[in-house]
This record gives sequence, structure tokens and C-alpha cells, in this order.
Amino acid sequence: MVQIINTGDEGAAISAAVQRLRDGEPVAIPTETVYGLAADATNGEAVAKIFEMKGRPSFNPLICHVDGMTMATELGSCSHLFEQLAHAFWPGPLTLVVPLAAHSPVHDLVTAGLGSVGLRCPQGISRAIISALGRPLAAPSANRSGRISPTSAQHVADEFPDTGLMVVDDGPCPVGLESTILKIEGQRLVLLRPGTITADDIEAVTGIKPALAEASAGIQAPGMMTSHYAPDARVILDCEKPLPGSAWLDFGNRDGDNHPGLKMALNLSPSSDLRQAAANLYSYLKLLDASGAEKICVAPIPMAGLGVAINDRLKRAAAPRTAD
Ligand code: TXA
Ligand code: MG
Repeated sequence: MVQIINTGDEGAAISAAVQRLRDGEPVAIPTETVYGLAADATNGEAVAKIFEMKGRPSFNPLICHVDGMTMATELGSCSHLFEQLAHAFWPGPLTLVVPLAAHSPVHDLVTAGLGSVGLRCPQGISRAIISALGRPLAAPSANRSGRISPTSAQHVADEFPDTGLMVVDDGPCPVGLESTILKIEGQRLVLLRPGTITADDIEAVTGIKPALAEASAGIQAPGMMTSHYAPDARVILDCEKPLPGSAWLDFGNRDGDNHPGLKMALNLSPSSDLRQAAANLYSYLKLLDASGAEKICVAPIPMAGLGVAINDRLKRAAAPRTAD
């Protein structure tokens, strides 16, 4: 059984979460993007529990969640670009990867010994929990490694049954896709993972066009590992119509959208609204997967704006499985 804490009494929910975190136990927290599996980022044993629960390869670094710039600059080294971006997009779905600060209290397990740290200030009750704890929270998405990220407390409960995990339930995540990850390298910006804050948004604030991670060498973020966010069913992209007997993930209002003989059919956004599609993506993939279909056919999603991030996650859900 997991322990689901509702946020009707916000003060009580915050105290309960903080108590658990002080005891060195992980707590699942709601952020605007997805639910995170959080632990005190300065406590190595607590962080180790996250890796153990997720079954995650320990060379993958975790994002450190902070309550604002003061905490951020104790952990990572500050620069004009960092300040500019944090000022524009925090609290919000942007993770900034910066060099570690000289006496950063973040445990090595969090940074995987990389010499850099991914920092993000989340919105809402998660930020309040960090403030009340007075310490940063390391938190990957609250799913087992390689699987679909959770966008509701029930999704988290389904991933970790019989663990006694505390889950702070603040309803469905409004954004529904993991944060944009941007690496700051001096005056250069590298987009490690696309998200709702787009390359154009970043360029508008900084005047710098972010380079795409694919163009630089090596894997810099496991979200970049080919197979990720993967359902059990085979995912087939860019289908103009579904295969017979499959589950169908539709988008937009398309002519002739009546296909008998499907296991299940859902539409990410009948009005072609990409924000709505992002918010629905993971819960719909989970529902279609649970229908027992062997194949999930996905309609084409436009590659503009937020569509870049949605297509990125869909491509990984469709990729051949790897060990992650
Ligand atoms: O929206 C989100 O970002 C969610 C919520 C919970 O905040 N978190 C999330 O965490 O998606 P996770 O662990 O599933 O993905 C974090 C990504 C990984 O791909 C990791 O490699 C990258 O962030 N990352 C973290 N620190 C890094 C660093 N120092 N250098 C490069 N990549 C880093
Ligand atoms: Mg994840």
C-alpha cells in the first residue's frame, strides 16, 4: 500500500512530507510537469533509495529541485545567463544544467560525479515542501526506470505498490511532459531535452539560439537514451489510420475517424490543442496499454512548438527496448 496524502489541508500535507524527508525516506511529490520521486539531495542514503526503487542505472544524474535562486546558487555556479533564464522561467518547467558550486552540498549520487548539476524550481506545493525542508530535493520522475512518467497520484501508486511510499496528491499535472533541460556552457546553450519551454522561448529571452544535443557528442541525459517512456505494447507512429485490433491514439478532428474493431480509441486533443495533448499524453498511453492491445497506433502530431517535445517522447516510446 502507498500512503496517499491529499492537499485539502495544505499545511498538514507539507508537514507530513517534510517529516518523511527528514527521516531520510523518499516522498512522491506533484510538480507541474510530472510526479517526482523525491529525497533530500544532501543525504546519500536517501538518494540511494530512489535509485533502488526506480531500478535506475546509477550513472544517470538526477535533477535537483530548489525553492529559488538563493538555494540554487549554493548548489550550482551562477552566471548572467543562469540568472536571466531563472528570472524568466522559474518557478516553472525549465531545468538548467550548470557547473557545480565550489562547496555544493549536493551528494555525488545526485550528480553522478559529472561536475555539473541540473537545477529546477517547480511550481506549487512541491516548492513549498522544499522551502519548509530548507534543503534541495533530488527527484526523477516517479516511475520505474524506462517506463511512462506518472501524471497522477494513482499512476505513482500503480508503479510502486506495497512499498509504503508517501504520495502527495495534488491532482493531475497541468503540463504533463517533463521539463525542458538546457545546459549552460559559458555563452553556449545546449538543449538536452525538449519540453514546453521551447528553443524559441529561450532564444527570445537570451538572444542565443540553443544548440541541439543530438549535434554534440555522447549521451548527456538519459531521457536521450533511445528507449524511454515505454509502454508494453508496440508503439507505431504517424499512422493515418489505426491497424485493425490495435489501440488508437488520435489527434485533431480528422475526416473518416470512425474505425470499428479497435481495442480502444482516445483522442489527445480533438481541437488540435498541443497543450491539451501534452497534458493527456502519458495517461492516455497508460490507458491504451492497459487495454491489452499489442499495438498502439498514433496519429501524426505537428512538429511545431510543443509538438517537438511530444514527438520526442513518442519517438522514445516507440523505439526498440534497451536495458534502461
Ligand atoms: O519535469 C521534470 O524534469 C521531472 C520532474 C519530477 O521535475 N523530472 C525528471 O527527472 O524528468 P528524470 O530523472 O526523469 O530526468 C532527468 C534528466 C535525466 O535525463 C538526466 O540525465 C538529466 O536530467 N540530468 C540531470 N542532471 C544532469 C546533469 N548534471 N547533466 C546532464 N543531464 C542531467
Ligand atoms: Mg524519467
